[in-house]
Amino acid sequence: MPLLYDNHGRRINYVRLAVTDRCNLRCAYCMPAEGVRFGPRSTLLSYEEVLRLMRLLVGMGIDKIRITGGEPFVRRDIMDLFEGLAGIPGLNTIALTTNGTLTKPRIPALKRLGIRKINLSLDSLDPERFQMITRRDDFYAVWNTLDELVREGFEVRINAVVLRGINEQDLVPFAHLTREYPVGVRFIEEMPFNGSGMEQGELYWNWKRIIDEIQLAFPALEKLPDPPHSTSMNYRIPGHAGSIGVIPAYTRTFCGTCNRLRITPSGLLKTCLYDKGVFNVRDLMRAGATDAEIQTAVQEAIGDRARNGFEAEERALGNRSSRESMTTIGG
Ligand code: 5AD
Ligand code: SF4
Repeated sequence: MPLLYDNHGRRINYVRLAVTDRCNLRCAYCMPAEGVRFGPRSTLLSYEEVLRLMRLLVGMGIDKIRITGGEPFVRRDIMDLFEGLAGIPGLNTIALTTNGTLTKPRIPALKRLGIRKINLSLDSLDPERFQMITRRDDFYAVWNTLDELVREGFEVRINAVVLRGINEQDLVPFAHLTREYPVGVRFIEEMPFNGSGMEQGELYWNWKRIIDEIQLAFPALEKLPDPPHSTSMNYRIPGHAGSIGVIPAYTRTFCGTCNRLRITPSGLLKTCLYDKGVFNVRDLMRAGATDAEIQTAVQEAIGDRARNGFEAEERALGNRSSRESMTTIGG
């Protein structure tokens, strides 16, 4: 099978797989207050289906997967899936995005499987604000996970969504955290994706405003070179162990080098964070498709990819009312 290139010449080598839409937190920017309707378990891609799909994708040049959710650790026997993924030759990187509440007991097993890149979703360093944002009282569980991951030598990033009037007080404390902690703090622009279908007008905390705010407290802030395909613009404060980045998730300046595919928990393949899904791999598999048929379907989807998140959003606009929650997309 030839390597995957999209219709804009971008090589695709990275899959983000959301393994569940369930979560034990209720972050306001992710889920509407009344919660989201979780699909029945039978709608989920089974582990066998995921492993088959990943073997086929690795055969087309995918070499990195990030497991997201929802919260991956609320799915039953998730370590079995990780073990299966770790056994796929050619899948060089397995990364994980988690809210950190249930993660700590899994750290030894993650280490053993060679899963070393972990993104922790943590939007505040203040336990009360954490509770306000997540509607749960789990700050210290996440904090202990962070501590242990760092101690065990994992490559840790913190994803913090910047929310106007809610956690802007956390920008500078997060920057301070990078002094002792060798972690990459990534501030994410808020996207209007909580499943409520609400649109926001202009985004207040865009990446530039976030950086300006940090620079005010740390005038020595300096730009770092960004790795290829990075979705963040990265900086450091001289003398600090960690780094600081901003992810223009709403401004979408990173689309030009996008190398990723997304799979939702129920098997919908998305070629952009902002599209509404191209086809359902689960349905194709359950209808008895051959390996070659599945690979061809993926190739066709990639061959008709929107140029960027704005074009993808425009194409999806027809069904604006059914805008998903991030809990089914996985970021
Ligand atoms: N805007 C920006 N980021 C979001 N995430 C979830 N919902 C949103 C949103 N509306 C982030 C989470 C997590 C990642 C998977 O996606 O913070 O780190
Ligand atoms: Fe859970 Fe992540 Fe959504 Fe928060 S943002 S409710 S941690 S899935």
